[in-house]
Amino acid sequence: MWLYLAALVGLYYLLRWHRERQVVSHLRDKYVFITGCDSGFGNLLARQLDTRGLRVLAGCLTEKGAEQLKAQTSDRLETVSLDVTKMESVTAATQWVKERVGDRGLWGLVNNAGIIDPVAFIEWQTIEDSLNILKVNLIGLIQVTSSMLPLVRRAQGRIVNVSSILGRIASFGGVYSCSKHGVEGFSDILRRELRHFGVKVSIIEPGYFRTGMTDMKKSLGRVKQAWEEAPIHIKESYGQQFFDAYYNVIKEGLMRCSTNLNLVTDCMEHALTSVHPRTRYSAGWDARFFFIPLSYLPTSLADCILTKYFPKPAQVV
Ligand SMILES: NC(=O)c1ccc[n+]([C@@H]2O[C@H](COP(=O)([O-])OP(=O)(O)OC[C@H]3O[C@@H](n4cnc5c(N)ncnc54)[C@H](OP(=O)(O)O)[C@@H]3O)[C@@H](O)[C@H]2O)c1
Repeated sequence: MWLYLAALVGLYYLLRWHRERQVVSHLRDKYVFITGCDSGFGNLLARQLDTRGLRVLAGCLTEKGAEQLKAQTSDRLETVSLDVTKMESVTAATQWVKERVGDRGLWGLVNNAGIIDPVAFIEWQTIEDSLNILKVNLIGLIQVTSSMLPLVRRAQGRIVNVSSILGRIASFGGVYSCSKHGVEGFSDILRRELRHFGVKVSIIEPGYFRTGMTDMKKSLGRVKQAWEEAPIHIKESYGQQFFDAYYNVIKEGLMRCSTNLNLVTDCMEHALTSVHPRTRYSAGWDARFFFIPLSYLPTSLADCILTKYFPKPAQVV
């Protein structure tokens, strides 16, 4: 009985492997637009796809980021300035993409741009910080998608949205987790709405990786700043000891980030080049073997596990 079961599972994985390794044709003629290419996953993906021969159109927030990327890639890769929070910037980038792709349409749109700081408790975050995170991670992603969708539909192409494992289970990171849950919901709806038009939507859910977003100095500096600027009653309520312990948990978490960014960009590449892309890609060991299983546990049990490492606040009731 167990042998039959094992054989069935083995057969399932074999068939899946065979199905997923089929690659779409004429990759060299296909255009892919990526947001947030100055650093991290977006930057690596742009270089990776350029090496593979695709026509990469890279959205960069800064001129410096664009120059550095161009210096590392072929003449086929082109960059454009893009701030996903500014509609005029999104409209201009869409027009720029349209001029390049022409009647072929845009094969791939990768919504990658994102921010996280400060990684603070919700009560320590200012409303400006919260809105900013939502504006970049969720509203910006929706703006870019809406603007470029007609081009993707023309190519019957792919949309790849970068969420996070925090979009599956909100373990910390306050509004960042909310923004990524929004990305998951938006992508699920979009996938179902567009399936009859030949457009496929994939979601990438990375665990913790070392990028610009998880830069130790910058992240810890912003956590400290959020705490220092929090109202006095909030600081009294949590207490300095609580903050020091939280700070150390974040520090240890940042130290454990994986440096193998290819685990994520390989998923993005697969979503863009496989005939049968997956709906969801969980990238990283922490995502696959800790956070995803945790997300299926009863909420009360998940709460216990996720809050285990924090001490009690000063004014506990
Ligand atoms: N690193 C992780 O552990 C991790 C885990 C899960 C999910 N993610 C997600 O992965 C994506 C890429 O992040 P990353 O880790 O590669 O971090 P990153 O190195 O900081 O890359 C994010 C990119 O987005 C750009 N950006 C920021 N604000 C923007 C705006 N308003 N308009 C356009 N671009 C903007 C940044 O530009 P500047 O560099 O010029 O600021 C940067 O190039 C994000 O969506 C993030 O949420 C990351």
